[in-house]
Amino acid sequence: MSTEDKERNNSSEVQDQKSRTANRDSSAGKPESGAAASITLFFFLGLAASMVLGWVIFPQLLYSQKRQPIQFNHAMHNEMVDNGCESCHFFREDGTYSGVPKLAQCIDCHEEVQGESAEEEKFVTQYVQQEREVPWLVYSRQPPCVFFSHAAHVKMGQMDCVSCHGPVGESETLKTYEANRITGISRDIWGSNIAGFKKNSWDRMKMDDCSECHQRENVNQNSVQTHKGGCFVCHK
Ligand code: HEC
Ligand code: HEC
Ligand code: HEC
Ligand code: HEC
Ligand code: HEC
Repeated sequence: MSTEDKERNNSSEVQDQKSRTANRDSSAGKPESGAAASITLFFFLGLAASMVLGWVIFPQLLYSQKRQPIQFNHAMHNEMVDNGCESCHFFREDGTYSGVPKLAQCIDCHEEVQGESAEEEKFVTQYVQQEREVPWLVYSRQPPCVFFSHAAHVKMGQMDCVSCHGPVGESETLKTYEANRITGISRDIWGSNIAGFKKNSWDRMKMDDCSECHQRENVNQNSVQTHKGGCFVCHK
């Protein structure tokens, strides 16, 4: 059953209940207290059903779960590299950001299997030795219409990775990647919380979240990088 079907079924159930209670109401003439109680009961049953649907079932159907091609331990690797995060995530000469590392950042240490881990063996035999790049799933990937520059934020704005990404750099495992089945976009953009609550600055990164910080920091007025404005600050 598709998401839509389920939703349609369930909302027609709710409507059935509503019309049933409405019928009762009119046929009884003046509703007695028993009828009033069952109206209330049906109302709350319907409400509970739509809340379960909207908050629990719908989100589960809306997102597909994908495992990363291999696991990766940030905490362990940070201790082994010389330049911290920049050993793998760095700015190129032209100011663009390297983003997710390529095999070139791994090969010095992983030409041969080093440890006992099955994940490392998979990495070395299926990717390094076959010269295949790992198709990492990027949690923070924005839709293609969005323009984002790490240089503006990290170099000019002096912002910390954690404020937008959370503690990924200290993590020992990569979490399951969830994609919105309709838009194909990572769940981290609109956030895990369906009601839209946000506890940490990195809980989501949708248009409002970018704008909120830009307004706070007066980005449009002080923008030195481009002479574009309005929507075209962030859109191509
Ligand atoms: C040895 C290489 C290496 C080092 C050092 C490293 N990373 Fe990573 N990082 C990776 C790999 C591989 C991925 C790809 C996993 C993925 O798709 O999220 C990644 C992904 C990320 C992402 C994910 C983005 C996303 O949205 O999917 C962030 C944020 C990140 N690293 C931050 C850090 C920070 C902060 C540090 C330093 C504390 C750091 N990394 C050090 C290899 C490294
Ligand atoms: C400075 C050397 C060094 C670099 C650079 C390095 N690794 Fe490792 N990595 C190791 C060592 C050593 C181990 C084995 C640790 C053990 O199992 O005892 C390891 C373990 C692993 C493992 C298995 C453990 C885990 O879950 O993380 C994976 C997968 C891995 N590396 C992937 C990568 C990738 C991908 C890159 C490049 C983005 C990379 N490594 C860069 C040294 C390195
Ligand atoms: C102001 C918020 C912000 C800050 C600060 C920030 N990032 Fe990002 N990062 C993003 C956004 C947004 C994206 C997605 C960009 C896109 O899809 O075009 C991203 C993407 C990434 C990616 C994946 C890139 C790719 O597309 O392959 C990595 C890796 C990453 N960031 C690491 C870091 C690291 C490491 C730091 C700290 C040095 C950092 N980021 C600081 C917002 C931020
Ligand atoms: C935590 C605060 C913060 C968040 C979140 C943030 N930004 Fe920014 N952004 C800034 C600041 C501050 C600057 C100005 C940096 C400077 O030039 O010193 C900036 C600059 C920019 C610029 C360059 C503007 C110009 O004309 O120079 C672009 C593009 C941009 N941000 C896009 C985005 C997008 C897209 C997102 C969301 C995915 C985002 N930003 C999220 C703070 C933020
Ligand atoms: C501060 C950065 C920023 C500015 C300014 C901005 N946007 Fe966005 N916009 C984003 C980001 C990031 C997304 C993707 C995440 C989302 O869907 O919220 C987005 C998504 C959208 C989408 C949905 C597109 C899709 O593929 O899902 C539309 C439409 C849009 N923006 C229109 C506008 C218009 C019109 C303006 C000017 C009034 C504007 N935006 C200004 C950052 C920005």
